[in-house]
Amino acid sequence: MARVLVLFAHPALEKSRVNRALVAVVPALRRRLPGLTFHDLYEAYPDFGVDVAHEQALLVAHDVVVLHHPFYWYSTPPLVKQWEDLVLEHGWAYGSQGRMLEGKRLLNVVTVGGGAAAYGPEGYNRFTVRQLLAPIEQTARLCRMTYLPPWVVHGTHRLSDAEVSDTAGRYAALLTRLHDDRLDEGALAGAELGNGILDAPLDPTPATSAEGPGDGAAAATPRGALAGRGGR
Ligand SMILES: Cc1cc2nc3c(=O)[nH]c(=O)nc-3n(C[C@H](O)[C@H](O)[C@H](O)COP(=O)(O)O)c2cc1C
Repeated sequence: MARVLVLFAHPALEKSRVNRALVAVVPALRRRLPGLTFHDLYEAYPDFGVDVAHEQALLVAHDVVVLHHPFYWYSTPPLVKQWEDLVLEHGWAYGSQGRMLEGKRLLNVVTVGGGAAAYGPEGYNRFTVRQLLAPIEQTARLCRMTYLPPWVVHGTHRLSDAEVSDTAGRYAALLTRLHDDRLDEGALAGAELGNGILDAPLDPTPATSAEGPGDGAAAATPRGALAGRGGR
């Protein structure tokens, strides 16, 4: 079993359609997957006052970090940058003495308004999503982490309700696969994206029932049981 920390960042979850559907699967998953921790950064830090010691303790207590957010201006929402600036300290995360993240895995889960055809050398946006995430990939490498190919949801505005529902099922399969530590390293090594590999359907092998940091170490459920921030 791998201990999986989802760092979720959506500044306007009350207006979200896709990410609301994705994180709605988390409460049921957490009952099955003892090593899964869901941490909603905008809920925890609405004023951007990131608790560095708490965040570092969470990172230390997990093996896989999932950075999950909508794509905003070809990048992350601003709280993710604030989190990076404060939490990934020299001498702790990187530098000759900074080895606290060594060997952990990092995965970007990103929802993207533009369709797949718009991202790439022939597309309107000229770069692939993976290329645009290069600062995070390189940050992971600097921190001696293994960067997994990103899991990307394209064309969010055009997804039908059925497609959103299917995507939420794939997100659940993705988190289960990470937690169960059933990764196809060979396929992942050469992949641009993790789609189709990380979310491949799993056989019905039950997850381990061992205790893990998912049990109460951080925010237990997505914001206000998904009723919107502050229960609105
Ligand atoms: C401030 C802002 C910036 C955005 N920037 C981009 C962008 O650079 N590229 C893109 O494809 N979509 C962009 N989008 C669209 C979002 O990625 C998209 O609406 C979101 O992933 C949908 O998920 P949701 O329903 O959970 O909000 C942006 C949206 C907002 C509000």
